[in-house]
Amino acid sequence: MTRKVTKAVFPVAGLGTRFLPATKSVPKEIMTLVDRPLVQYAIDEARAAGIKEFIFVTSRGKSALEDYFDHAPILEQELRKKGKTELLEILKTTNMDSGAIAYIRQHRALGLGHAVWCARRLIGDEPFVVMLPDDVIAAETPCLQQMVEAYAETGGNMVAAMEVPTEKASSYGMLDVAEDMGAVVSVKGMVEKPPAAETPSNLAVIGRYILAPSVLKNLNKIKSGAGGEIQLTDAIAQDIENGNPVYGYRFRGQRFDCGSKAGFLQATVSFALARDDLRDALRLYIDEITHSARAAE
Ligand code: G1P
Repeated sequence: MTRKVTKAVFPVAGLGTRFLPATKSVPKEIMTLVDRPLVQYAIDEARAAGIKEFIFVTSRGKSALEDYFDHAPILEQELRKKGKTELLEILKTTNMDSGAIAYIRQHRALGLGHAVWCARRLIGDEPFVVMLPDDVIAAETPCLQQMVEAYAETGGNMVAAMEVPTEKASSYGMLDVAEDMGAVVSVKGMVEKPPAAETPSNLAVIGRYILAPSVLKNLNKIKSGAGGEIQLTDAIAQDIENGNPVYGYRFRGQRFDCGSKAGFLQATVSFALARDDLRDALRLYIDEITHSARAAE
């Protein structure tokens, strides 16, 4: 029997420089896909997978995130007065129970592994989830829920995995596959952002992890790796050497890289097209501009 996973870490300390000037005053995680902040998608996915405690690793300038998850008494009162129950319901999804959410500061940008390590005392000695809100995954069954179900069978450590073109290997943690069992693969090694010529496979790590507490202990010891940063990938790979298995999980769903502008726009269009209130108007517009572009060719 594997232990139930109830804690999730959300590393959100990054400066979001790719989205400047917006991120000068708005944390990237608050930027919206249609009308919901990136981080709301991650929270909803975590809740669907049974997560009860949410640990945000933040940095200076991220206080808008804390306000986002807080109650908004004046706004709520106003909506109640006007009988706007639907909007009140939407607001409820942004609230966290007292004690269910914690914020930890990462004082120096030393890498993803270091960010997770900053949360070690709140995680304690139990398995935990790491979610990178930049990776937004549209799926019938939310990605993390799929993983939690698979993890109930495997235990160990589990990372979300997706095939990528070899030339993209240098943007991801890449898996060295021991045995391919279909949705689940067992992993014998992991490399952070290898050059295309050196990647052990074309299976990349996507930002969902279910990790054993031993990974935190590994983070105590490992030295900086790719890009001079303390890499989570290296601490997970270390666990294989400790005799603790690591599995990749090929999730069912579409992943958007919302850390890039192109990915963010694709996600925006895709989520808007999935909405009853926006689909027709947007389709019409897309048809119009593609026709006029064709006519101009
Ligand atoms: C991080 C991880 C990398 C993983 C990627 C998924 O990289 O370090 O292993 O493949 O997320 O999005 P980042 O994109 O933050 O550079």
